[in-house]
Amino acid sequence: MQQFTTIADQRAWSRQQIRAGKRIGFVPTMGALHEGHISLVQQARAHSDVVVASVFVNPTQFDNPDDLANYPRTLAADAKMLEGAGVDVLFTPEAREIYQEGHCTFVEMVGPLTDKLCAATRPGHFRGVTTVVTKLFSIVQPDVAVFGEKDLQQVLIIARMVSDLNLPVEIVVAPTVRDADGLAMSSRNRRLNPDMRERALGLPRGLQLANRAFEHGERASLKLIEAVANELLVHPGVDLDYCNVVKLSGFQEVDQADDGCVLAAAVFIDGVRLIDHIHLGRETFPVALDD
Ligand code: PAF
Repeated sequence: MQQFTTIADQRAWSRQQIRAGKRIGFVPTMGALHEGHISLVQQARAHSDVVVASVFVNPTQFDNPDDLANYPRTLAADAKMLEGAGVDVLFTPEAREIYQEGHCTFVEMVGPLTDKLCAATRPGHFRGVTTVVTKLFSIVQPDVAVFGEKDLQQVLIIARMVSDLNLPVEIVVAPTVRDADGLAMSSRNRRLNPDMRERALGLPRGLQLANRAFEHGERASLKLIEAVANELLVHPGVDLDYCNVVKLSGFQEVDQADDGCVLAAAVFIDGVRLIDHIHLGRETFPVALDD
């Protein structure tokens, strides 16, 4: 596996691959990798000839300086995992390489995808994501890029942006990968001690209970949200950031759920923010890994 830190080196390599007729797959990450990321690499390999992964903790998508400072950074271990997974190039630019002196151009989406859920409680977050993903696409020039379904709002926003800006990149969405206890894999999970993890499990359990209620005929969004909130109350010390029912198509909040809806929630466990969601009425949490 080759590793590049400059835009010039990454571009030169990508240009060579394009000239050779190779299809480039891309997995952008912020590092602190886990099996969920490796599943993204596997998808990228299945859809392309050569695979680039980036590790870049993007400062413009953090609305909270403590969150940025505490974001786990494990580059040596990440590189080992990516090499083991068959990645051809690891792109690890410094922040000053991506945001050069005087940088003042951003990509910002408006409308229903960016006025609720994570967008409502993390101002500026998605502007940072759309900006960096556009820049990374312009540097890596992938044919296909893979994102995890766990970050559902992010995936929908990126897919919309690619379509709105006519970017020549196919977006592939890979299913959420969970640990055997049901917690969705996330780089932030490393910040959970066993007690915090037990509290965090209220999130997937609450979503599953709400889904069961939906399957038994409950349609009132408030009741489904209440099912999540009640489960979170079982272990004190979980702060609910948001919990909403939205239509997948159009991303509108609804009072009455149907099977085109998603129940999505974010919680804080002693300052660690975790998100998760469930597609109402669909098979519950299909992808789990054994420890
Ligand atoms: O999902 C992430 O890890 C980040 O938001 C992304 C897409 C790599 C952009 O920084």
